[in-house]
Amino acid sequence: MGGSGISARIVHGLLLDKLGVPLFVCNDYDIPAAVSSETLFVAVSYSGNTEETLSAYAQARKRGCCIIAITSGGELGRSAAKAGYSVVPVPAGMPPRAALGHLFSTLLVSLERSGVCKGHQRGLEEAVRLMRARRRPWLVRARTIAKHIDGRLPIVYSTSRMLDAVADRWRCQFNENAGVLCHTNSFPEHNHNEIVGMGHPENPGRDVVVVALLDRETRPRTRYRLESVLDITEQAYHLAMRLESEGRSRLARVFSLIMLGDLVSVELARLLGKDAMEIDRIDELKRRMAQKRG
Ligand code: PA5
Repeated sequence: MGGSGISARIVHGLLLDKLGVPLFVCNDYDIPAAVSSETLFVAVSYSGNTEETLSAYAQARKRGCCIIAITSGGELGRSAAKAGYSVVPVPAGMPPRAALGHLFSTLLVSLERSGVCKGHQRGLEEAVRLMRARRRPWLVRARTIAKHIDGRLPIVYSTSRMLDAVADRWRCQFNENAGVLCHTNSFPEHNHNEIVGMGHPENPGRDVVVVALLDRETRPRTRYRLESVLDITEQAYHLAMRLESEGRSRLARVFSLIMLGDLVSVELARLLGKDAMEIDRIDELKRRMAQKRG
């Protein structure tokens, strides 16, 4: 769920067209019916106390899955260690969304060691190098993007299945860090429904900033779709930005856009005077859910 679950969705987007076995991301209490003793089940919860994840984990135990737990501790860490499952620790003491690097790389390496995928070491190294090297220019760019978005509704479009989770990450970071709403959709699916709804109601339409995430694997026809949509619906938004991924490997390219989005969300928080660490409503909801057992 949330800041932990996004790591799995990013992995899913990277591996989707490469794997010979099905890979499901479960963001709920219940696991799919097809999960069996033949399934590798990876429970990812930064705190180790997220009730939906604990519920899915309990169901996976009952089905006899091979289980790996990725967590900084909590109930998941204790239970999985006691049951003799592999527990891969991540450092404690940060907001889950800030631990993405730890959660994502641990998950990917765990899948590699389990034989599910291979060959991502170089991509991981390139991603780290690129993010270090490009930190300053991306921060400058993020400030400009945040200024355009300030006071408007950001709509983030992904243009390939690999980028869907990246758009989700932008949305989650806008929500949690900056405390603002954000809408996401993906191309080409958007072209078969949302294109009609764009600009209605009118006011939100005029106050919309479109952010299109693009990658060298975005199909030329999808690029043409994007440009055509932006032309047809030009009354429906204030500004449209096209952001291209950077880097060589898929992994580095994905993280180039993730880091830019993270920086934009923090810059937007700064402009809005919001403490990017504060997620009081999530905490309050978790408190209420803990009081209402059963
Ligand atoms: O950012 C957050 O704090 C949330 O989105 C959490 O990640 C989410 O509630 C799940 O908690 P955890 O990551 O500890 O499993």
